[in-house]
Formats: sequence, C-alpha cells, structure tokens
Amino acid sequence: MSKQRIAVYPGSFDPVTNGHLDVIRRAAGIFDKVIVGVGRNVGKAPLFTTEERVSLIQVAVSELQNVEVQSFDGMLVAFAKQHGASVLVKGLRAISDFEYEFQMALANRHLDPSVETMFLMTSAEYQFLSSSIVKEMVRVGGDCSPLVPSVVMDALRRRFDGSACQL
Ligand code: PNS
Repeated sequence: MSKQRIAVYPGSFDPVTNGHLDVIRRAAGIFDKVIVGVGRNVGKAPLFTTEERVSLIQVAVSELQNVEVQSFDGMLVAFAKQHGASVLVKGLRAISDFEYEFQMALANRHLDPSVETMFLMTSAEYQFLSSSIVKEMVRVGGDCSPLVPSVVMDALRRRFDGSACQL
C-alpha cells in the first residue's frame, strides 16, 4: 500500500471563514488526509477560545470525510511531523499576504527542511476576506452571513448580541 499523503492546514481561524473552507475543500481533493491545525498567533488576541475555534471548524467541515481538526501549541513543523504530514498548505490572497507567508515558509523550512510549504491561491471571490474583516463587519453591524458558515454566524451573533462595540 502506498504511503498516505497527509497535509496540515494551519491557522488561527478566529473564526473560520468561507475563504478558509474553500482552501480546506480544495486541499482535501489533493491530499489523502488534511489536518486543520488550530494554533496560536502570538501577534493576535483571539475572540474565540481554541476549543471554540476547533468546534466551529469541526461543524463546518463535517461533510468532508478526509479532514480532521486539531489544536496545537508550540512548533508547527513538530505538530505536522507528529501527525505524519510532510506538507503545510497555506492559502495566499493578493500580494499583501506574500511577504509574511514567504517569511513563515522559510522559517518553517529552517526548522525542518523535510516539511514543505505549498500555497493555494485564494479563489477570486474571497480575495478580500479575512477573519479580521468578518469581525470588523459584525462590529459595525454589517451582514457577513454570506462570508462565513452559518454555525460561525450564530456564534458571532451570540458573542456580540447587544455588545457589538466591545468587539
Ligand atoms: O492564521 P494565522 O494567524 O496566520 O496563523 C498563524 C499560525 C498559527 C499558523 C502561526 O503563527 C504558527 O505557525 N504558529 C506556531 C509557531 C510556529 O511554529 N511558528 C512558525 C515558525 S517561527
């Protein structure tokens, strides 16, 4: 039997958006197994706890048989190796993402050259979309329901019900 091709799709997913789901679906069509790795970005204070972010993604990807969701702490490449993955999948929006993602890909290669980073270009309709933009839209009372799965929309509504300006 040939070796399973396993990829990790890492991010903070605070919260997961339809742009993330687009990348997850496409990666799931390329790899035998995709592990969505919910990590901590030291530069960001998350709105949802790690457990909440994991469970929102689990609901959103429930129809994808070869996708798993796990949280991780510490080094991403170590998490990938622990799960038998030799590829990190990242979504890439316009030029603005490139410098940061290039730096992260090189840092991860420095830490473990056997783990390769592969980029999937974000679909055109999601080029502007990010978790931060979604939170900002909710904060100012905009409708972001076409941009996130319904389970995330419900969670955002519950979180900000009557206290939108505290976002
Ligand atoms: O969605 P984000 O916020 O861009 O995700 C960033 C994340 C969590 C993938 C990144 O911060 C990460 O990989 N953190 C784990 C620590 C690590 O291994 N850093 C990379 C090399 S320094």
